[in-house]
Amino acid sequence: MIRLVVMISGNGSNLQAILDACRVGLLDATVVAVVSNRSEAAGLERARKLDIPLIVKPRLISQKNQEYDQELAQDIKAFHPDWIVLAGWMRLLSSAFLDCFPGCVINLHPALPNTFPGLNAIERAFKAFQQGEIKKTGVMIHLVPDEGVDSGPVLAQIDVEIKKNDTLETLTTRIHDSEHSLLIKTLAQLATEKR
Ligand code: GRF
Repeated sequence: MIRLVVMISGNGSNLQAILDACRVGLLDATVVAVVSNRSEAAGLERARKLDIPLIVKPRLISQKNQEYDQELAQDIKAFHPDWIVLAGWMRLLSSAFLDCFPGCVINLHPALPNTFPGLNAIERAFKAFQQGEIKKTGVMIHLVPDEGVDSGPVLAQIDVEIKKNDTLETLTTRIHDSEHSLLIKTLAQLATEKR
């Protein structure tokens, strides 16, 4: 069974999708720890309910990014993850963290490769659609080898159509649904390759 550490900053619906998939046997994996940089992240409750170990680690104001990342990497190493999944983790990770887990960090981005990197990708895609610049958006899952933002080698991607009568809310819901299914499919594939 592969060992996952899931990193979140907010709602944690993707974390929930992973937990559900593990529970029903769709995913041969175990979530060994959940990490949040925000102590009020709603997703923490999802992990608490299942007694999953938590690493809750807001960055201290006095702390440099590199120092924070080094500490975080040490905390996570203790759980010996096969994969670290950034599932709504809203902090950029420096090489001080990434170099500790080469080839093992994957990120979920609510847009297609090379489009809308960074924050508010869904909003920006919706606006681009309204301005006639794009007809579809999507979801991608990629490796995070370095400090590039939403830009590593792509493991999986799926198109999400933008409909004429979409609102930002309906599009967001459809993108999140696609994220949940693509994430589970991709992790299941990684779990099979590991066997
Ligand atoms: C997802 O859309 C993810 O792609 C983005 O942040 C969102 C997190 O959603 N980076 P949730 O916390 O998993 O519900």
